Amino acid sequence: MNLKIAVLAGDGIGPEIMEQGVAVCSAIAEKFGHEVSYKEALCGAHAIDEVGDPFPDETFQTCKQADAVLFASVGDPKFDNNPSAKVRPEQGLLAMRKKLGLYANIRPVETFDCLIHKSPLKDEIVRGADFICIRELTGGMYFGKKVEPTVNADGVEEALDTNYYTRPEVERILRVGYQYARARRKHLTVIDKANVLASSRLWRKVAQEIEKEYPDVTTDYMYVDNAAMRMIQDPKFFDVMVTENTFGDILTDEGSVITGSMGLLPSASTGSSTPVFEPIHGSWPQGRGLNIANPLAQILSVAMLYEYFGLNKEGALIREAVNASLDANVRTPEIQAEPCSEKYGTKEVGAWIVNYIRRA
Ligand code: IPM
Ligand code: MN
Repeated sequence: MNLKIAVLAGDGIGPEIMEQGVAVCSAIAEKFGHEVSYKEALCGAHAIDEVGDPFPDETFQTCKQADAVLFASVGDPKFDNNPSAKVRPEQGLLAMRKKLGLYANIRPVETFDCLIHKSPLKDEIVRGADFICIRELTGGMYFGKKVEPTVNADGVEEALDTNYYTRPEVERILRVGYQYARARRKHLTVIDKANVLASSRLWRKVAQEIEKEYPDVTTDYMYVDNAAMRMIQDPKFFDVMVTENTFGDILTDEGSVITGSMGLLPSASTGSSTPVFEPIHGSWPQGRGLNIANPLAQILSVAMLYEYFGLNKEGALIREAVNASLDANVRTPEIQAEPCSEKYGTKEVGAWIVNYIRRA
């Protein structure tokens, strides 16, 4: 297969983990006889500094012309506590999602046995948890009408975000949820706040209609507050969950941390144009340049990329190599088991995995 990949390394630890992701991608291509070419493009704080725009048009064109985007992370502390900054790196990410029509964000939450002790939950509660959150990514409050903080006619400061959804937006994401559920344990949980929010009542109405088309899948409905609770009490309850943009943002942070392995979780965003594959974690500016960032989420994002194109053996070999590196305790400092005779950084973990793939 020929694959053109747009490489958006972004900020913080992004470039370092991306280097390892690309190395693994190339090792797999070589092994299985694929032609992969890469084109780098600017995004995030980096792009603001260089061209004044966190998602420049040139980057958009590079993404549009590619078969897939491999993305690392964006964000820089100099923007974080400045609510009046005119442009911020996160806008680049949102622009990318909107312009590429990436309405479905697929976030698998799985545990790695050797890292269960890192979970804030008890072993017996979390061991074996394995679910996917399908988060709607181009609608809701993120993109609805906004009024930035402003003083109104009564002299009171006000602001507004609108949680707007249309039936087609809800329907297409629910169908993505059903497709994933069908390929897994056939259990879909629709998460909303239909007891309070009108937008959630639309979600529930549409879901109750289309669930009839998927009689092989068990559908249940859960309010988001209850889902947040259930996720820590009994994460094994879930198989596939589907929810709106803001709820999905919050629930997936919770999901990623209960596994104890946030640095290992990849994600995919798909829709009407080029799909994007990226780690769930952020840009960790404090870790930049120290060769300590965990490259595994980036490397597993490459596995998701190959699997998206139906190249399941390629994906499986990456997963096997990652598991082998963990078993061999070839791990970055935050997850390395003691005692250990050797220390490994971002580069060493990446190189070990590349080597494993070459020798397989
Ligand atoms: C995420 C992030 C983004 C979001 C931010 C960086 C805009 O938290 O991908 O979950 O809120 O969607
Ligand atoms: Mn988030």
